[in-house]
Amino acid sequence: MFPSKANKLILRLGWQFQRRRHGDVAMGKRSTGSGSSRLVLGIETSCDETGAAVVSETGAILGESLHSQKEVHLRTGGIVPTVAQQLHREHIERIVQEALERSGVAPHQLSAVATTVKPGLALSLGVGLEFSRNFVRRHRTPFIPVHHMEAHALTVRLLQPVSFPFLVLLVSGGHSLLAVARGVDDFLLLGHTLDEAPGDTLDKVARRLSLAKHPRCSTLSGGQAIELLAQDGDRLQFPFRTPMGQTYDCCFSFAGIRNQVNMTIEKKEAEEGIERGTLLPCVNDIAAATQHTVACHLAKRTHRAVLFCKANKLLPSLEPTLVLSGGVASNQYIRKALGIIAEASGLRLLCPPAKFCTDNGVMIAWNGVERLREEKGILPPDADVSYEPKAPLGTDLTSRVKAAAIRVPPIRINIS
Ligand code: KG4
Ligand code: ZN
Repeated sequence: MFPSKANKLILRLGWQFQRRRHGDVAMGKRSTGSGSSRLVLGIETSCDETGAAVVSETGAILGESLHSQKEVHLRTGGIVPTVAQQLHREHIERIVQEALERSGVAPHQLSAVATTVKPGLALSLGVGLEFSRNFVRRHRTPFIPVHHMEAHALTVRLLQPVSFPFLVLLVSGGHSLLAVARGVDDFLLLGHTLDEAPGDTLDKVARRLSLAKHPRCSTLSGGQAIELLAQDGDRLQFPFRTPMGQTYDCCFSFAGIRNQVNMTIEKKEAEEGIERGTLLPCVNDIAAATQHTVACHLAKRTHRAVLFCKANKLLPSLEPTLVLSGGVASNQYIRKALGIIAEASGLRLLCPPAKFCTDNGVMIAWNGVERLREEKGILPPDADVSYEPKAPLGTDLTSRVKAAAIRVPPIRINIS
């Protein structure tokens, strides 16, 4: 765990000396084109991507490397934590080495190492943390523990100027949340999923449909496969119900959508005399209807969050912004659905490109830069840090949102 109060003071004094020393080294010796900018190495291992990147204080991505375990987990039909751990162990050293080599930066030139320590799979987080702790101890580099969802939320600021506060919807394989980002480490949580995350739902539906056997989908994640097939499908063939219509808050629930889809699949299999594990002819229509229902649910809850923010003056009147990120935000249909809500409520919608929506080392390095600039959560190399598989983001306002019981005017999500 984090050090006690007394230890913290001692560590802080020691660390201030260290930081000056490292800042000087970085400023004095670097000649990689980023001037006197401080440099952060980011390391990501919270789920099934081993990522590393070096990012400068000015936001230049100097070098990055990523190893995805997607294909292995597709074969086993889901992430097996021990397999994920083993693969992180096998690749982390090479990935970090590659990121450093591509950036032309030596370890002693780094101002900090930032690593995801929460939330995520315990066994995966443990590999990144152990590697990072050894690295920072060896090179006497300050350490910045990173909250994975904070990093997803802030990535957009690496790519374009976006000032606080802004509303953010984060949707991935492990998370679904709506929050107001008021500062680097200052979030108001408006809503979260009550059961599973939308990426998890799409992955499970894709598995139930055996999309790994589909010639166009064999190397795609469940969410990608659903998006691809949905393009040729007719969503109106399966009018699934959008959940939580009578619950006037901003929380999400996706398990009910999955149950509806599963029941439809079973019915269709029985009707067509097709065995489970064989591709259904109506697979495109089911994909389209599933994607549409997930998109509508996200859009409605986000619309309520926008209205809550407006009623409570949580967003600026000048250029209020909605940021959409996380792996599921790569989905163009979901982006368009959120675009409809943003336009109807006068917000600008910003989504990082797909490569920055899914997990990567760049977003962690950038989170490190943001924290370095604000001098927040920077620890000395010897600090005792633990990983936390479960970690909520920010101050929980979900009860206040529920109590406000805001009714959302109907908006048609009609996307061709
Ligand atoms: O953020 P991420 O890389 O890892 C987590 O932190 O979970 O997100 C991975 C999730 C997976 O569930 C995957 O199916 C989903 O994002 N995903 C998509 C798309 N690309 C990835 N979902 C829908 N449409 C996509 N194009
Ligand atoms: Zn993620």
